[in-house]
Amino acid sequence: MWKGRFAQETAELVQQIGESVSYDWRLYKHDIAGSIAHARAQEKAGLLTADEFSQIESGLKAIEADIDAGKFEFRTSLEDIHMNVESELTRRIGPAGAKLHTARSRNDQVATDTRLYCRAEIDVLTAGVRDLQQALLGRAEKYAATVVPAYTHLQRGQPVTVGHHFLAYVEMLERDLGRLADCRARLNVSPLGSGALAGSTINLDRQAIADELGFDRVSTNSMDAVADRDYIAELIFAISLCGVHLSRLSEDLILWTSAEFGFAVLSDAHTTGSSLMPQKKNPDVCELTRGKTGRLLGNLVSILTAIKGLPLTYNRDLQEDKEPLFDSIDTLKLTLAVNAEMIDAMEVREERCRAAASDPMLLATDLADWLVRQGVPFRHAHELVGKAVAESVATGIPLDQLDLPAIDPAFTPDAKSVFSLETALAARTNPGAPSIDNVRSEIARWREPR
Ligand code: ARG
Repeated sequence: MWKGRFAQETAELVQQIGESVSYDWRLYKHDIAGSIAHARAQEKAGLLTADEFSQIESGLKAIEADIDAGKFEFRTSLEDIHMNVESELTRRIGPAGAKLHTARSRNDQVATDTRLYCRAEIDVLTAGVRDLQQALLGRAEKYAATVVPAYTHLQRGQPVTVGHHFLAYVEMLERDLGRLADCRARLNVSPLGSGALAGSTINLDRQAIADELGFDRVSTNSMDAVADRDYIAELIFAISLCGVHLSRLSEDLILWTSAEFGFAVLSDAHTTGSSLMPQKKNPDVCELTRGKTGRLLGNLVSILTAIKGLPLTYNRDLQEDKEPLFDSIDTLKLTLAVNAEMIDAMEVREERCRAAASDPMLLATDLADWLVRQGVPFRHAHELVGKAVAESVATGIPLDQLDLPAIDPAFTPDAKSVFSLETALAARTNPGAPSIDNVRSEIARWREPR
């Protein structure tokens, strides 16, 4: 493709280090769509006859069909998807094919292709996140009233419901959706027409090309347009954070399915056994989700590092953007899908959850609140309840069976009314708090069509 200036063939090892078609072939549909839009603008500008345009269009569509059918032979000697498609087009249709690259560079071409690719994949990821939210909502609904301890420092804190716990993940995933949507909106800009870095002396209708490809607008600085990989870094970040959320969910489920907690049971179909220990039922999906999050974070570091030292504009380092991008997208898609299935099939052991939540210590804060309602300043109330807790720990008498008035007269016998999980939850009616009514109305809100 650049043979004019060179007297030697490219060395074999240079082809090896330089080829990207072994992975960027997956851009082919976007590459072909971009080329058709570009050719249409060429025809409009009088650079191609109507006949040449239709040869290019049908030639590219035939190539697309061959790639779809697995009948296309990619050649690493042609480096990347762009050159593979263009050279095959020219081989098939002759001179018209050789006109296609007028007023275009692989620099604006690859930027166009990856933007289109990211846009399409964001839509797929968005659907995947929504499916997982639905699975979580399904469980939240089934266990909306199931009381369970909530933890800080992995120490029992206060009672909530399983529904409230799962809704927390629905919230996280909603922010992930917002980040994906932001990224989509920001990347939907057409770089085509930026050329190698300084546009072209041949003016094509950039807006028409952008319109055909569904871009919201055209880029406004040719140098930035070919050097910019922010959208890739942003998408990998959005994916990474979503992965981090799934990893935290995984960690919760690993704990919940342990014998020590025993709060949840995963289906046989979503767990694995041991080749040695016959009793084992392992939460491998959760562990792999947690483990694969490491790859996502690695990909984020890779892309940011690849970009950070680059002078304007395009540098070949940027070809290294694709493998982390593809890997992050593939990894998140798979983990979202398998988690949605697994959560759908997960059962909660309500009696175990309730038993754990029935530890009266979980209502120590409610006891302090009760004192506050009697006019005791909170800091003092905290100390009085702390004394009661210490006595319970020392004597082994459960907090709700202690002689509280003997500890301090501020406790009247009525203080014991706080030791009811139902009362404790029902009192938590402020927005965002875990009363069962709140949880149910949150579920209904999440279920509204969006
Ligand atoms: N395969 C290249 C990439 O992904 C396409 C752009 C090549 N441009 C160049 N000037 N060598 O970045």
